[in-house]
Order: sequence, then structure tokens, then C-alpha cells
Amino acid sequence: MTTHSSKRVYLQPTPVRIWHWLNALGIVTLGLSGAQIRFPEYINLFGSYKAAIELHNTAGILVALSFTFWFFYYTCIARKMTQLYVPSSDDLRHGLLRQSVYYFFNYFRGKPSPHHPTPDNKFNPLQKSAYLAIMFVLMPLVSLSGILLMNIAPLREIVLLIGGLKILVGIHFLLSCAMFAFLFTHLYLATLGKTPLAYFKPMWNGWEEIDEHESETTLESGHHG
Ligand code: HEM
Repeated sequence: MTTHSSKRVYLQPTPVRIWHWLNALGIVTLGLSGAQIRFPEYINLFGSYKAAIELHNTAGILVALSFTFWFFYYTCIARKMTQLYVPSSDDLRHGLLRQSVYYFFNYFRGKPSPHHPTPDNKFNPLQKSAYLAIMFVLMPLVSLSGILLMNIAPLREIVLLIGGLKILVGIHFLLSCAMFAFLFTHLYLATLGKTPLAYFKPMWNGWEEIDEHESETTLESGHHG
């Protein structure tokens, strides 16, 4: 007989939720204001060109500060950065394939995800790899190129070393495109829970509802990306 009791797991501590939503707000603002700065003849969302640049700079500083806060929290306070974000060798050898098979086939056949999140192992192997690349490669590079663009005169030597202003602008734009490619995938995968908003709840109030029955049958699993 199946009983449908559910248990609650505290998955997303307050600092992570604050960082995540500040970061999301900042990145969306950067995308909209950046689109106006890049294509001023087609897009005018914030009045003047100058207003778009000022908003872009402010959102950039917000994202860089919240990134620092995220990094400090996970490395110095929670001390879980490596444990959560770095894929294990089993993740790389089997987990990536297992999770991809789930997203491409088994999800559509109504099968449960092969990973179930716990506070010490929140991410499935695909999430670990994607979040590691985004948070340790893309975010730092896009922020650094942005910081250079905000300080062209004082950091002139470095700008020249990279190949000049045009190259730097091109790099910054391509990195942002990669960021938005991630964001659309992230949004799609975040809706693949039991209900479209199921995975949003822990990122909003901290708590994940777990079906006891489900947690018994999918012991080594977790979810989405
Ligand atoms: C704009 C709207 C966004 C929405 C609606 C959203 C939604 C979510 C949701 C529902 C989760 C929890 C599920 C999961 O663990 O995957 C999550 C986690 C996460 N998101 Fe987002 N996200 C957004 C933007 C972003 C952006 C712009 C980034 C990075 C640049 C990002 C990076 C992450 C990371 C790293 C996690 C895992 C955090 C942790 O538990 O330590 N998200 N997001």
C-alpha cells in the first residue's frame, strides 16, 4: 500500500535566496538595458541612451556585489562550495548521461528524475556542471569585461593588451549572449517539476516538499537544472 505523506527539507538558506533573486533581477535589467545600448536605433526601453547606460552600470555593480556575497557565503560560512558545485568522477562518468537521458526521454514518459536533492547534494550532475561553468567562468569573465568597460581610461593598458576597445566590447557582448542562452535553458528546466512552479518554491521560501514514497523509490536522485 502506498501512503502519501510528504516531508519537508530546508534546501535553500536565506542568503542563497537573497543572492539568487538580486542576481536574477540584476541580470534581467542588464539584458534589457544592454539591448538598448547595443541596438539604440531599434530599442528604446528606458528613455534616453544615457539613462540606459546608467541603469546598466548600476545593475552591473549590483550583480558584482551579490556575486561576491554568494562566493563569501558558500566558501566561508556554509563551507559547501566544492561539495555542491564540483561534479564527482561518478557524476562525470555516469551521472551526466543518466540525467540527460532523463531530460530528453524519461521526463516525457512520466518517469521520476534520477536525482533527489538534499541540502548536501542539491544539484544533479548536469546542474553541477552548468552552474560551475556559469558561476566560475561566465560570471567572472562578463563582470571583469564590464568593469574594464566602466573604467576605460584608468585601465587603458589592460584594454590595449586585450586588443582594444572594439575587441573588448565584442567579448563582453558574446559573453552576455552565452549568459542569456543559459538563462533560457535554466528557466525551461526550472519548470520541469511536478507542477511548473514546484522548483521555484524552495528558491522562494527555502523548503522543498518531498513525497515520502518518491524519496524511497528514487533514493539517489534529485532534479532539474
Ligand atoms: C531571471 C529569472 C531566474 C529564475 C526564474 C530562476 C529560477 C531558479 C530556480 C527555480 C532555482 C532553483 C532550482 C535549481 O536549483 O535549479 C534556481 C537556482 C539557481 N539559479 Fe536561477 N533563476 C533565474 C536567474 C538566474 C541567473 C541569471 C543565474 C546566474 C547567472 C542563476 C543561477 C542559478 C544558480 C547558480 C542556482 C542554484 C543556486 C543554489 O542553490 O546554490 N539563476 N534558479
